[in-house]
Amino acid sequence: MQKPILIIGACGQIGTELTMELRNKYGADKVIASDIREGNDTLMASGPFELLDATNYAAIEDVVMHYEIDEVYLMAAMLSATAEKFPMRAWNLNMNSLFNVLNLAKENKISKIFWPSSIAVFGPNTPKENTAQSTIMEPSTVYGISKQSGERWCEYYFKKFGVDVRSVRYPGLISWKTMPGGGTTDYAVEIYHEALEKGSYQSFLDKGTKLPMMYMDDAIRATIQLMESPAEQLTVRSSYNLGSMSFTPDDVAKSIKKHIPGFEISYAPDFRQKIADSWPSSIDDTQAKKDWDWKPEFDLDQTTSEMLTNLKK
Ligand code: SER
Repeated sequence: MQKPILIIGACGQIGTELTMELRNKYGADKVIASDIREGNDTLMASGPFELLDATNYAAIEDVVMHYEIDEVYLMAAMLSATAEKFPMRAWNLNMNSLFNVLNLAKENKISKIFWPSSIAVFGPNTPKENTAQSTIMEPSTVYGISKQSGERWCEYYFKKFGVDVRSVRYPGLISWKTMPGGGTTDYAVEIYHEALEKGSYQSFLDKGTKLPMMYMDDAIRATIQLMESPAEQLTVRSSYNLGSMSFTPDDVAKSIKKHIPGFEISYAPDFRQKIADSWPSSIDDTQAKKDWDWKPEFDLDQTTSEMLTNLKK
């Protein structure tokens, strides 16, 4: 039987859908949602919720003890674009929250952790195409530096203290239920909203900026699949490369035009262009495929259909 799970950062873009999926799977009372703010009505009505600051060790420990939590999914983080504006706040949130859950596991108060990393761990000197699991990593953003450091600490806690921590490097995530906040890949969500509302979109990334991307259903499936895999199958305890599709703003526009022929896109790259230019264009996720059978399902046109159909409702 599934022991209680705590989601920290349950009201964000990934957390909302992850919480709902885990509740469907294991039962609402087995999945405790938490965040520093309340989430959407569907999430709030679906099961237990605690207001929780991810940087407060004692507060997390209280919730863990109260609900006899066994697994923690730590989804709270400041993303790439916002982190460039508030470097110290980003470092504080992204690192201290991770240490809090790693230390809870080290003290045997919880037994399993999921912590997301990102394609942002790579940098301008990383080979861009089919970027390998292990390669040059010299991240040039605050967010990337925090995720790269986090990966090192995860592996360290696994090797030194036997902490069962699992992680994937998410690509840009596309979803319709909850808006992303403060990321460089957010254009790929905004574009669908504005295609329906205005019939046009001004992209903050340039026409040919190719980035690794993924539809949320694939990301949630990957996350749960990794968490359910037998520990002995996992050979990566920093974070797994996770691939699905790669596309440019121009590709998304063409895909949208198949549904909305009059859709128009224009380009006005801002500070986020430089962040995007430092990231890979495509990802080699052979190791995830080999170790835990990872297989993506959604391509760009399927993603476009899902996005437009669901947002129209
Ligand atoms: N989607 C994230 C961002 O753009 C990358 O992990 O910041």
